[in-house]
Amino acid sequence: MTARSLGVVMNGVTGRMGYRQHLVRSVLAIREQGGVELPDGSRVQLEPVLVGRDAAKLADMADRHGLTRWTTDLDVALSDDSCPVYFDAQLTSVREKSIVRAIDAGKHIYTEKPVAESVEGALALASRAADAGVKNGVVHDKLYLPGLLKLKRLVDGGFFGRILSVRGEFGYWVFEGDWQAAQRPSWNYRAEDGGGITVDMFCHWNYVLENLFGAVNAVTAKVVTHIPTRVDESGTPYDATADDAAYAIFELAGGVIAQLNSSWAVRVHRDELVEFQVDGTHGSAVAGLHGCVVQPRAATPRPVWNPDVKETQSFRSQWQEVPDNAEFDNGFKVQWEQFIRHVVADTPHPYDFMAGVRGIRLAEAGLESSRTNRRVELS
Ligand SMILES: NC(=O)c1ccc[n+]([C@@H]2O[C@H](COP(=O)([O-])OP(=O)(O)OC[C@H]3O[C@@H](n4cnc5c(N)ncnc54)[C@H](O)[C@@H]3O)[C@@H](O)[C@H]2O)c1
Repeated sequence: MTARSLGVVMNGVTGRMGYRQHLVRSVLAIREQGGVELPDGSRVQLEPVLVGRDAAKLADMADRHGLTRWTTDLDVALSDDSCPVYFDAQLTSVREKSIVRAIDAGKHIYTEKPVAESVEGALALASRAADAGVKNGVVHDKLYLPGLLKLKRLVDGGFFGRILSVRGEFGYWVFEGDWQAAQRPSWNYRAEDGGGITVDMFCHWNYVLENLFGAVNAVTAKVVTHIPTRVDESGTPYDATADDAAYAIFELAGGVIAQLNSSWAVRVHRDELVEFQVDGTHGSAVAGLHGCVVQPRAATPRPVWNPDVKETQSFRSQWQEVPDNAEFDNGFKVQWEQFIRHVVADTPHPYDFMAGVRGIRLAEAGLESSRTNRRVELS
């Protein structure tokens, strides 16, 4: 069968996420494979239109990837009827108003998280999209990671018995920018530009927790800025007004307690940059981005506390690797394909703007908990 084509307006493609994960590893990879396969076996090919602020960068990028369509004028791109989909990977603080324009132009919307800077803003987008009858989706990339897919498989297979707790460590040292360049854009460390690790990561933690273990009912968090000054891309020192670490306890529906540390001021002594340990009555698992190990009840060793004797057991060697049992494609690409099928063939894509709203609501609740020194319930 011949492939139909579907234009996609891609805004923010010169950024870190927009370029690498969304343009190169998703949309261009989909083009390379001949499009997105639909349930009836036919294919739809994606035709990106690159949108950004810098004409030279866009022209160069288009040229390097054999693309012809780019513009610095969002309205021109949105007026193109061959493009029913708008994608946004811009800086968070400028996203909301671009999405409003895209909804008003009748486009289906797929976007990086967070959908907007506030619950109010995200809710307004959700109801505007609903009124306009356009489909909408938010990136939920962590759910498509091999490590988390294996964890989900364990949950679905009843491996854990009753799940008691989840403890997660996310983070790594982000250089301050003085003697070595920071490896993340400086806006992430300025609250006035939409930065902050709570806003960034709680959006992810919300969908990870609700899709694997249960919706978050309450949060208690301590949010801090460990590194108060940093140096930006041009070598100029600036005040880091946003939080760079968040230590939080999440109470989940069903009684699971999740405790997640998120930090850009921590040095890694783990196997992966994010790891979740899940303990249940019948077994435990530790999952990272890719790997996942388990320790079932029957194979649980019997440690005995004795500080006078040097430990002889190798605790890490007492875990068993969970096999892949499948081929894992790039999660960003897989979700793109799922969203495109949702647009074209009306197949399910549950990660919509309301899922995005819940993520931002959790981030706001975490910040409120820290500010007021109390536990915050989510209704
Ligand atoms: N899903 C994930 O795991 C993940 C990871 C990192 C970032 N993100 C999200 O992706 C988005 C982009 O993050 P990034 O790390 O790629 O940032 P980045 O700074 O590398 O890219 C930002 C993009 O926005 C554009 N932009 C538009 N208006 C701008 C303005 N007024 N000032 C500055 N830039 C402007 C830039 O040109 C650039 O293309 C953010 O919303 C962030 O929350 C998601």
